[in-house]
Amino acid sequence: MTPDPSSSYSRYTRVGSHRDVDSFRGHLHELCPEVPVDNEILRAPGSPLAKSLEICGKIASNRWMIQPMEGWDGAEDGNPGELTLRRWRRFGISGAQLIWGGEAVAVEAEGRANPNQLVIAEHTLAGLEKLREVLLEAHHDRFGSTSEPIAGLQLTHSGRFARPGRDGACRPRIAFRHPLLDARVGVTDDSAILDDSEVEDLIESFIAGAVRARELGFDFVDIKHCHGYLLHEFLGAHTRPGPYGGSLENRTRILREIVSGVRREAPGLHVAVRVSIFDSIPFRQSGDGEEGVPERCPEGEPYRLGFGVDMANPAEQDLSEGHAFLALLEELDIRLVNLSGGSPYYNPHLQRPALYPPSDGYLPPEDPLRSVARHLHATRTLKQKFPGMVVAGSALSYLQEYLPHVAQGLVRDGWMDLVGIGRMALSYPDLPADTLERGELARKRICRTFSDCTTAPRGGLVSGCFPLDAAYGSLPEAETLRKLKKKPRE
Ligand SMILES: Cc1cc2nc3c(=O)[nH]c(=O)nc-3n(C[C@H](O)[C@H](O)[C@H](O)COP(=O)(O)O)c2cc1C
Repeated sequence: MTPDPSSSYSRYTRVGSHRDVDSFRGHLHELCPEVPVDNEILRAPGSPLAKSLEICGKIASNRWMIQPMEGWDGAEDGNPGELTLRRWRRFGISGAQLIWGGEAVAVEAEGRANPNQLVIAEHTLAGLEKLREVLLEAHHDRFGSTSEPIAGLQLTHSGRFARPGRDGACRPRIAFRHPLLDARVGVTDDSAILDDSEVEDLIESFIAGAVRARELGFDFVDIKHCHGYLLHEFLGAHTRPGPYGGSLENRTRILREIVSGVRREAPGLHVAVRVSIFDSIPFRQSGDGEEGVPERCPEGEPYRLGFGVDMANPAEQDLSEGHAFLALLEELDIRLVNLSGGSPYYNPHLQRPALYPPSDGYLPPEDPLRSVARHLHATRTLKQKFPGMVVAGSALSYLQEYLPHVAQGLVRDGWMDLVGIGRMALSYPDLPADTLERGELARKRICRTFSDCTTAPRGGLVSGCFPLDAAYGSLPEAETLRKLKKKPRE
C-alpha cells in the first residue's frame, strides 16, 4: 500500500526525510522565506494555539479546527452510516475546539456528489442529530465537561460534480458552460444549466437546511462556496446572463439571498462560509509524463471562467475579488470564514497538496510545499486586510511533523486565527490534543499524503485513512483499493 519512496514520486524532498526542524525550515524557506517555523512544539498554556477566541458567541479554548471531511459512507437515503458515526466520534476526541461542518451535507438529494453523501431532510434529522451527539459525547469522555467544541454543519450542492445515483453517473447541474470542464462531466448542451427559477428553489433549499441545522443544535451553518461545487461555480459565473451572473454583485446574489432567508427563518443561527478564495485553470496530466500541466485557455482569450484566477495568466491566482468577497461577508455580518483554494477535481495539487497523487490526478507540478504556501499567503493577505474576521486556514496536512511548529507561528504572527486539519484528522485525529498536552507527536500516525482517502472514493469505495487507520486497513475495501492502484493511471 505504501508507495516506494525511491520512485518518481520523490522528485521533491520528502518532508519526513528532514532530520530536524532546521533542515525542514531550510527547505520551506527556499520556497517561501517568510513562513514562521518554531523550533519546538509548545504545550498549553504557553502555545499560541492554546489562546482562547470568541466564536459564535462561545469561547473556543484553542485554535485547532477539524476541516469538513466526508467519507462516502452514508446510507442511500442520506442518513449517516456506522463509519460516519465513527469519524465524528474521532473528531470529538481530537481536542480541536472548532468542528467546521463535520462534512458536506447536501441540501437536495440530487445535489449529492455521490450516492453515499449525507442529505439534510426531514427523514435524516434523527441521524444528523446523532452525529452531533456522538461528537460531543466523545469529547466529554476524553476531556470532561469543560470546553465543549463549537460545531457547525456544512451545507452543499455539488453542482457540476453531482453524482447522486447508485449508477455513479454524472448528473451535473451547472451555472454556465465551461469549455474545459463540460466534457469531463458529460455536458454537451445547455440542459444542465440551472435556470433562474431553479436557482430560487436552490436558495430555498439552503435556507430550509439551515433551519433544520439550527433545530439540531448546530452552532453555525457553512454555506459552502468551495472546491468547484455549485455555489463556488456561481462565484465565477462571469459569462452567465441574468441576475446570478456577470458582475460580482450578481455572482454573489445567491449568498446574499440565502443569508437574508436564514436571518429571517433561523434567527440566532450563525452563518459561516468556506470559500475557494483562489483557483486556477484546470490542470491535466501532461502528454509525455504524468506531471500536471495547466489546460490551454480557450482561443487565447482572457480566462473568464473562474473566481480568484488571474484572467491573463490563469495558472496563477488573483485575490482582488477575494478582497471584495470578504468585504461582502463583513457587510453581511458573517465573521467566520474558512479559506481554501481550487478543487479536488480539476487542480487537486492546489486543493490538497500531496506528494502522491490520487488515481484521477497527476504528479505534482510544483513542490507541494509551494502549493501549501499559496494557501498561507492568500490567508495572511486577507487576514491582515480583515483583522476583525475569524479566519481559518486550510491545506496544512502536507506539513506533516512540522505542522504544529508552523501552525504556532502562523497564529502568533497573525496569518490565521484557526488552524484547520483535514487529511491529518483521518490518520491522527487527536494530534491537537497531543500537541497541547504533551508537546509531541506520534510519528507513525502522521499523514504522508498517499491520497488513498481520495483514490478510494474515486473507485466507489468508502474514504478513510487506509494506510494508517487499522479500521480501514482491515476492511475488504482495502484489497479492492490495492488492486485499483495497480491499474495503470488513465
Ligand atoms: C477524503 C476527503 C474528504 C473531504 N471532504 C470535504 C468536505 O466534505 N467538505 C469540504 O469542504 N472539504 C472536504 N475535503 C477537503 C478538506 O477539508 C481539506 O480542504 C483538504 O483535505 C486540504 O486540507 P489538508 O491538507 O488538511 O488535508 C475533503 C478532503 C478529503 C481528502
